[in-house]
Amino acid sequence: MQDRGNWSSKFGFIMAAAGSAIGLGNIWKFPYVAGKNGGGSFLLIYLAIVATIGFSILMAELVIGRATQRNPVGALKRLQSGKWWPLIGYAGIVTAFVILSYYVVVAGWTLAYIGKSATGLLATTDGDALGGMFTAFITDPLEPIVYAGLFTALTVWVVVGGVNQGLERSCRYLMPALFILVIILCIRSLTLEGAGAGWDFFTRPKWEYVTFQTVIEAMGQAFFSLSLGMGTMMTYGSYISRDSDVVESGFSVITLDTLIAVLAGVMILPAVFAFGMDPGQGPGLTFITLPRVFAQMTGGIVFGPLFFILLAIAALTSSVSLLEVVTAYFVDELGWTRRNCTIAAGVVAFVLCIPSSLSLGIWSDHTLFGLGFLDIMDFLATNLMLPIGGMAIALFAGWVVPKQMVEEFCAGNPKLGGLAKVWLFFIRFVSPIAILIVLLNGLPFLGPYLPWN
Ligand code: TRP
Repeated sequence: MQDRGNWSSKFGFIMAAAGSAIGLGNIWKFPYVAGKNGGGSFLLIYLAIVATIGFSILMAELVIGRATQRNPVGALKRLQSGKWWPLIGYAGIVTAFVILSYYVVVAGWTLAYIGKSATGLLATTDGDALGGMFTAFITDPLEPIVYAGLFTALTVWVVVGGVNQGLERSCRYLMPALFILVIILCIRSLTLEGAGAGWDFFTRPKWEYVTFQTVIEAMGQAFFSLSLGMGTMMTYGSYISRDSDVVESGFSVITLDTLIAVLAGVMILPAVFAFGMDPGQGPGLTFITLPRVFAQMTGGIVFGPLFFILLAIAALTSSVSLLEVVTAYFVDELGWTRRNCTIAAGVVAFVLCIPSSLSLGIWSDHTLFGLGFLDIMDFLATNLMLPIGGMAIALFAGWVVPKQMVEEFCAGNPKLGGLAKVWLFFIRFVSPIAILIVLLNGLPFLGPYLPWN
């Protein structure tokens, strides 16, 4: 049996788990998804989902992980002998590859943009030119794939380093640095002339825009941003020693992740309005708007590359957590060496990222329901696999092994008994039912016919 490794301290765990949670989902995706869904009301729905469904499922994953000290497949086998529940763990491995297939593509863009901003290529306030450059880059058949490959190699390198020397060490310093830079950029964005309209857009609820689709997207976004529903947090929980608390750490992780998502909105949306751009423009928002902010700020030539470096780092501390789920399974259950399985999984992820990247350019006319490969992978993972995985985890913890879960939740701190009861109620009833309703509504052949629609 190989030594699985442990976080060296509570702080180390919180930074690693926050590193997993905080990533492209917060900084690149959240502002444009919020922009597309009308701003303020989306924000409120998102916060409500994070505080209820998000928190309860995060705790379920952490508790299961810490209790069993195993990868998701092994954890579910250990807690229950039935043969179906470990399927959650296998599904998680598949989901990890689905997400990696496009995550490394976008992360590769951030690497490319470090160089582009450092060499002054982006130093223009002409929005159309910046938009054109972005489109030309992501539709190129080769360049983005090279960067995605580079990023995948970095991911593999960190995961091969192991729990302490790789995952934890990469997060301890980089996460605090990211935090400080985000705050500086928020201040700059809010002090641009005309920023008020963006602030208003981001914070004022506009309920007339809200449909069930908004709720589905907010829920998917919450799962994605918190790294829930595929065993990532279970895996990270399994490296917490049995005598160290999970509840407080879980709170910290949720708070940090949500804070960064909200700050990313504050950093980007006011600037979008200040420059008279369209907040619903989608994936290009960060890559087009922010260079324009940098071009207008003193020291932009420093802050620009710095921002893309930190975005790449945020992406890296997340992509390693996706790969770690796969690695933990092969190491724990099949006895492979960490090095071999991580490299093998990295190669698979790289191969899968090729159609993702090409689907934005030369393969853009190969679509299914109007979506290209990258969009399909994102849709499948975010709106289906993660919520379904999360529901299964909640049902497992709440109905199959509830007594053990409650005991483990309070381990070492009897004062948590009251909170444990509330938590149990959420994973038994509130979260699974809420997820089910949202998912059923999302089915095109069912949703429109439900009595409340
Ligand atoms: N949470 C990360 C982000 O916001 C992405 C991520 C890492 C993830 N691990 C995950 C998403 C597991 C879902 C499941 O960018």
